[in-house]
Amino acid sequence: MNQEIIKIFDTTLRDGEQSPGASMNTEEKIQIAVQLERLGVDIIEAGFAAASPGDFDAIDKISQRVQNSIVCSLARAVEKDIKAAGDAIAKAKSKRIHTFIATSPIHMQHKLKMTPNEVIKRAVSAVAYARTFVRDVEFSCEDAGRSEMTFMKEIVDAVIEAGATTINLPDTVGFRLPSEIGKMVKEMSDFVKGRAIISVHNHNDLGLGVANSLEAIMHGARQIECTVNGLGERAGNAALEEIVMAIKTRQDIFKGFDTRINTKEIYPTSRLIANITGIEPQPNKAIVGKNAFAHESGIHQDGMLKHKETYEIIRPSDIGLDLEDTLILGKHSGRAAFKDKLAKLGFELDEFGLNAIFEKFKILADKKKVIYDDDIRALVTSEMTHIQKAYELVAMQLMDSTGGVPSAAVTIRHNDMETTDAGIGGGTIDAVFKTIDRITGYQGTLIDYSVKSLSQGKDALANVTVKVTFNDNEPAMIGHGLSLDTMLASAEAYIGALNSYLSMEGKLKIKNIDSCKTI
Ligand code: KIV
Ligand code: ZN
Repeated sequence: MNQEIIKIFDTTLRDGEQSPGASMNTEEKIQIAVQLERLGVDIIEAGFAAASPGDFDAIDKISQRVQNSIVCSLARAVEKDIKAAGDAIAKAKSKRIHTFIATSPIHMQHKLKMTPNEVIKRAVSAVAYARTFVRDVEFSCEDAGRSEMTFMKEIVDAVIEAGATTINLPDTVGFRLPSEIGKMVKEMSDFVKGRAIISVHNHNDLGLGVANSLEAIMHGARQIECTVNGLGERAGNAALEEIVMAIKTRQDIFKGFDTRINTKEIYPTSRLIANITGIEPQPNKAIVGKNAFAHESGIHQDGMLKHKETYEIIRPSDIGLDLEDTLILGKHSGRAAFKDKLAKLGFELDEFGLNAIFEKFKILADKKKVIYDDDIRALVTSEMTHIQKAYELVAMQLMDSTGGVPSAAVTIRHNDMETTDAGIGGGTIDAVFKTIDRITGYQGTLIDYSVKSLSQGKDALANVTVKVTFNDNEPAMIGHGLSLDTMLASAEAYIGALNSYLSMEGKLKIKNIDSCKTI
């Protein structure tokens, strides 16, 4: 049977990055884009080019790297944004500009302070200008969920005339119920009559992002905007993995529909993004949560042993989760076995990268009896996404706080010079971070700190994520550290945040601009 393809528009790198605490550096964004391409997404919204030179640079680099997916940049309906978007994606093989303006009465009146006619005029000139850069232009009626249908039809008609090829109807504040989204999409689809592709972008404020997206497909939407792990503004966006697996699992309902997603890349993509952002999906999160395939009750376990389908609607292997093959290499494993394991996990490394990670693996294997898939994933991610390291941790020694003053001696390498200093603090971590500040001369303020064990056992790797500001006027930087020793991982994470800050310093101007609310 000929199946109709639902286009998957992934906005993890744009709307997902707007999740509090999910900022990523350029190297991390490139690695995610490469994985999204491997996952098979049709369109990668790589960022918002006008938001900052850092965003522009990341989109430009992603455009040069990605071959099989369309690379897209968001742009407000203003000339300078559209020019930045057009320039940032110029080198992409397939490219799209996504421009938007709010169409709901509340946004037009209070945020834009524009009349509906002015909004239409602005939208038309934005789309026409975008068409001077690319043939593929998407137009979004921001806050479509709360916009009046008559006005939306008017503006949609005008932007299609001006050259828009995709019309996106975002439920920006996650307000609508599935039946309402279905009605809105049907009415717009009937109106547009194939002149443009209808898309939806559903936020999850009422937990309905995925349900609303599925209902939209039933009523004519042929593009779904979504994010991996459901990242995004506030309560996030519709989760890519849930939408794709619902379509695949319920073919009785979604007869005739398919996506181009290689579902076996879902779990690796989810892990990569969780490792990079430090935002773990909740344990009971559908499809990719830690417990999504765990059967705890005796009755369920008994059923599973007798016949898997008693309690399992998706095979873990369908999303690339190999439960049977989790326990892997040890210190005697050779380079070939290690390379083979990396390939199975979806990592293609050049000789240089392989050697660097194999070395790290050997050091880890010396200290840790068994190494799990998730350990390897985190190891590779932390190696591959490191930006230019201005500062590197060389050694650290801690004096215990029992009865005394917590203190730390730290050695850091910078410009091929090693500096050692010691300091005290309210607690051991405080002592470590203050000593790093003294050595580097940068005063960091710790906004958030979390530690997570990566696998089971007392010798599990500690994965530390910190959020630090180095300047009150600039956004916080995220740093990650991975080590068997939590204190070492903490120091590495803190230095990683500083390195990220330095790699962006001078480039950051209006980072984290709120794309949905400003014009
Ligand atoms: O939620 C929203 O309306 C958006 C648009 C910019 C598409 O993210
Ligand atoms: Zn959004």
